[in-house]
Amino acid sequence: MSATTLTAAAPSVRASSQGSPVVTVRALQVAYDTELVLDRVDLDLHPGEMVALLGASGSGKSTLMKSLTGFAPITSGTADVAGRDATSASGRELRRLRADVGQVFQQFNLIPRLSVFSNVLTGALHRAGPLNVIGGFTSEHRRLAMHYLDRVGIAHKAKEPARSLSGGQQQRVAIARALMQQPRVILADEPVASLDPKLATSVLELLHDIAKGDGIPVLVSLHVLPLALAHSDRIIGLRHGEILLTAPTAQLDSEKLSVLYEFEEVDDDDHLA
Ligand SMILES: Nc1ncnc2c1ncn2[C@@H]1O[C@H](COP(=O)(O)OP(=O)(O)OP(=O)(O)O)[C@@H](O)[C@H]1O
Ligand SMILES: [Mg+2]
Repeated sequence: MSATTLTAAAPSVRASSQGSPVVTVRALQVAYDTELVLDRVDLDLHPGEMVALLGASGSGKSTLMKSLTGFAPITSGTADVAGRDATSASGRELRRLRADVGQVFQQFNLIPRLSVFSNVLTGALHRAGPLNVIGGFTSEHRRLAMHYLDRVGIAHKAKEPARSLSGGQQQRVAIARALMQQPRVILADEPVASLDPKLATSVLELLHDIAKGDGIPVLVSLHVLPLALAHSDRIIGLRHGEILLTAPTAQLDSEKLSVLYEFEEVDDDDHLA
């Protein structure tokens, strides 16, 4: 399979993003046992940009995100995340790398019985480590947690148990928790797949605003093309583990993106061979 790059360079995005890339991936290859699930993947994430990652189920979106935090079996290539090598980091270096990466998931992954405020505070554990907060979170931690709750628009819910919030509100808590890490990059794997269209839009607007306002690059995987087209600066499309297209969002539309979801006929002879 040959990767087709619709638009190799992205001048408008580069002009609007500042500084050198926070994430640089080159010729990345990931394999589970003998199954190659990512191949020849190149990726740059610049401060200030929101990049949508698209592709059919099984195309490798989650695996690409996992490879940036040392959770995927990388077989070759390079992956630099905020100055750390994700292909070889272990121990303390890997913990530091993971502290630099804020993650947002489809199912929010909050602790339901804990208050919204406490859930956000747990974001500080990534950087401090549990042993360093054994005497409790500092007043600075608490100030920051309220600051980020305010940032995502739900400071008024701080004392409520996380389980009492709507899905959209819970995802805001998860985003505040990610910000509490003071991350260098945010990876959001299908963050709106469990939300209705209105909440999905508001959560993506928030993530885009964080990318722009806070300068933190956001990589977000999505399955809904109109949402990707409305809320990203650039789109990267994966098919069968390879990057099939990468282009500024302004140059794309649903029709151009449909190539990501077209499948070749499987030749029975090849398949059985
Ligand atoms: N832990 C694992 N062990 C073996 N194979 C895996 C593992 N995780 C993922 N894969 C395989 O890697 C490929 C890519 O999976 P991945 O979860 O990255 O896809 P995806 O694009 O995120 O799909 P979806 O849109 O359904 O979330 C699939 O073929 C999947 O079966
Ligand atoms: Mg996935």
